[in-house]
Amino acid sequence: MKVLLIGNGGREHALAWKLAASPRVTALYVAPGNPGTAQVAENVPISAMDFPKIEKFIRENGIEFVVIGPEDPLAAGLADRIAAMKVKVFGPSKEAAQIEADKWFAKELMRQQAIPTAEARTFTDAGAADEYIRVKDEPMVVKASGLAKGKGVIVCPTSAEALAAVDQIMRQKVHGAAGARVVIEELLTGPECSILAFVDRKNIYVMESAQDHKPVNDGDTGPMTGGMGAYSPTPIVTDAIMREIERDVLVPIVDGLTRDGIDYKGVLYAGLMLTSHSVRVLEFNCRFGDPETQPLMMRLQSDLLEVMLAVVDGKLDKVELKWDPRPALSVVAASGGYPGDYKTGLPITGIADADSMRDVKVFQAGTRMEGKQVVTDGGRVLAVTALGDTIADAQKRAYQAIEKIHFEGMHYRKDIGKRAIG
Ligand code: AMP
Ligand code: GLY
Repeated sequence: MKVLLIGNGGREHALAWKLAASPRVTALYVAPGNPGTAQVAENVPISAMDFPKIEKFIRENGIEFVVIGPEDPLAAGLADRIAAMKVKVFGPSKEAAQIEADKWFAKELMRQQAIPTAEARTFTDAGAADEYIRVKDEPMVVKASGLAKGKGVIVCPTSAEALAAVDQIMRQKVHGAAGARVVIEELLTGPECSILAFVDRKNIYVMESAQDHKPVNDGDTGPMTGGMGAYSPTPIVTDAIMREIERDVLVPIVDGLTRDGIDYKGVLYAGLMLTSHSVRVLEFNCRFGDPETQPLMMRLQSDLLEVMLAVVDGKLDKVELKWDPRPALSVVAASGGYPGDYKTGLPITGIADADSMRDVKVFQAGTRMEGKQVVTDGGRVLAVTALGDTIADAQKRAYQAIEKIHFEGMHYRKDIGKRAIG
């Protein structure tokens, strides 16, 4: 089967690596890909948002299956356009992708389905948002309602911070149109986890649990990023909690979508907080998480293509996912300055050294080739991922491996997995 994967992040390198291992894949292309995906597939220089060029490539190369990695093309309707060509596509429709692309849509659906989540209000007028914050005068979280690369959420322990957040998002428009609407919600506390599930409209198949680390600095401090590291499984998600998540979150959200006439097909990602009362939803994403996908793909032993095809064909009940029982842990190396401004084009050394360690894989994200040299090309540059007998062992090995890698300004969190090891 000829497969085209859309995207160029660390998630896509991990997906390409697994797809390439499928005996049914005869050709694998990645658009646009990165030097990591080029190790296992053929990169084609087409942007993930250039739909006419993607369609042309599919037609001219007899592509039989398309996998869409990132949220932007999903939210802009790429899956619908490929489905209209009668080509199989993995990823939800534009309507279904609103679950991520429009945080207020997600909130309303959760409210309608009585899914536990933070109390929230929405505003399109900055003055009204200010007024609400002043009256409430309590810790809050301010979120740009649209897509903002994981950086559109500001946790505000004080009203002054919440007012500043509204100013940044709504008046200074740091996330552009994504901040035309804000969602302001109560600040919850508790450990977090990411639960990803394959959904084929009617069947839900939950993957192993994972934990992301979104703030840029150790101890979960500093501004939000797309994710600075992840591990799987997370011990906080016991079997009982997993059942609660399925029953109270995943089943009702998919039911709610179906009731509204929206078929969900692809990966549904729930970002959750385990508060002292119950599991609460922080967000939904319409795709695999980045960097959660890196440890998850390290652990997945089943044929990813088979699973994805089962989603598209509505036969998820016919497949079984096998996982390596060993935990995997991934540490992201970021550019100096990320999640703010950063330089690119800086030479990276040591990737092959790290990659040569047993059960270690370097998934590239913001990288590109300059001649024969891999250089930095984004905020999150790569994710070093290791399997270990325990989370502590996976952590030790991931950090041993990342120490072999260097580029100017490189920074990474030193405490990925700390909470699980305690
Ligand atoms: P989101 O992209 O909505 O998942 O938010 C990114 C991060 O912000 C989460 O992983 C949490 O760490 C934090 N966050 C989001 N919503 C809340 C909330 N209501 N209370 C506390 N922290 C939150
Ligand atoms: N790791 C968080 C995300 O993919 O949105």
